[in-house]
Amino acid sequence: MTITFVGHGYVGLVTACVFADFGNDVWVIGHTDEKLKRLKSGDPIIYEPGLKELLEKNLRAKRLHFTKNYGDAIPDSEIVFIAVGTPPKENGEADLSAVLAVAKEIGENLKNHFTVVSCKSTVPVGTNLKIEKIINGCKTPAAKVAVASCPEFLREGTAIHDTVNADRVVIGSDSAEAIKLLLKTHEPINGQRVITNLASAELIKYTSNAMLATKISFANLISFYCERTGADVESVLNAVGLDKRIGRIFMDPGVGYGGSCFPKDVNALLNTGKSLGIDTAFLEAVENVNAQSRHNFVDKISAHIPEKNIAVWGLSFKPNTDDIRFAPSIYVINNLLKKNFRIAVYDPVAMDNIRKIFGEKICYCNNPYEALTGVAGLAVLTEWNEFKEPDFAKMKKLMKNHYIFDGRNIYFNNIKDNNNFAYFPIGKKPII
Ligand code: UDX
Repeated sequence: MTITFVGHGYVGLVTACVFADFGNDVWVIGHTDEKLKRLKSGDPIIYEPGLKELLEKNLRAKRLHFTKNYGDAIPDSEIVFIAVGTPPKENGEADLSAVLAVAKEIGENLKNHFTVVSCKSTVPVGTNLKIEKIINGCKTPAAKVAVASCPEFLREGTAIHDTVNADRVVIGSDSAEAIKLLLKTHEPINGQRVITNLASAELIKYTSNAMLATKISFANLISFYCERTGADVESVLNAVGLDKRIGRIFMDPGVGYGGSCFPKDVNALLNTGKSLGIDTAFLEAVENVNAQSRHNFVDKISAHIPEKNIAVWGLSFKPNTDDIRFAPSIYVINNLLKKNFRIAVYDPVAMDNIRKIFGEKICYCNNPYEALTGVAGLAVLTEWNEFKEPDFAKMKKLMKNHYIFDGRNIYFNNIKDNNNFAYFPIGKKPII
């Protein structure tokens, strides 16, 4: 099958590579010459485990092509996936300008056979109808088209695995022919099939992300109670999670959720709710608790550290990615800088991205230990594996004072047996 992806971000590029690997002839449309050149040479631009190898393999097999011209790809494609960004506007609403501009380009390039245009970008309810209207307004009469919503649920850091081993494949469309073709394309992908209408498919994606964000905020809220009462957040959540109706997964408290999806999608759902006259206090509370968890972390550091001199380990919004969009690190570093802290940072892959934000305001180190030299404390913001079993004796020697603020609760068991540090976890009694 010939398939086109418009957009080469986490969703577009990963899914394109996976579909090419299944044996399809896959086109990817971008709009920046420099990025397309890098992609054609086998550089995936983003850091995602396994992606470079998959990209190189399918380029070599000539199943993957990159272009700027819609005319190269659209006329021969049976399915066109829209996978461009829907970043948040200032007011939190999803910015659909890229999606709608792409719809016009697709419509203008459709040829005389049947094509399915399927949106993988996360878009508010009703957007696919707008896409359909734009395409029908500019295609030639002979071109037959059906629109479908096919949301993607991959996580950064495990994107290839998640795409191939999906929990579910959701296809929303009013066209039986489109559903049949999409089912065929997704055949090699594991997971239950959910066939529904356009609006439901659009809402499924937002509901999933808002539900996951809610679980995290709920865990963070309970950690606030634990810190004020002497309760232990892990004991509480482990016991609560044993109830199969609740489950323990996705309830790890910390410095809050970040990334390109949860903050954006909770806000977009909130905005859609407002425009529909729905009371959105619940979603506002999810966002507020998330903000509060970062705020509390900075307050905790300020209240206890003896000198304004700290190392930060972990800058990406989660491990195994260089993505820093809405990362807790940005908030924490900004607020420590406002309080006149000197900050030395280390992250295995996100240093270049964080440098673009903070420039010379902070110090960038080549390894985690270099960041510790002479500091009063360490703040851990991302649970990269390489931070989990550090050399505590070496840390002790390098640091001037020995304060650890653990934003992901990765050291609790280690520190318990090791009296050398003043240790401040999340939702647990500090060890001082
Ligand atoms: C998320 C969804 O999981 C995925 O299905 C969707 O397609 C895109 O959005 P992603 O943003 O890549 O994926 O990462 P995820 O693993 O969900 O983590 C998001 C944020 O939540 C991270 O900042 C992470 O640190 C935080 N998190 C996650 C917690 O704070 N606690 C948890 O228990 C789980």
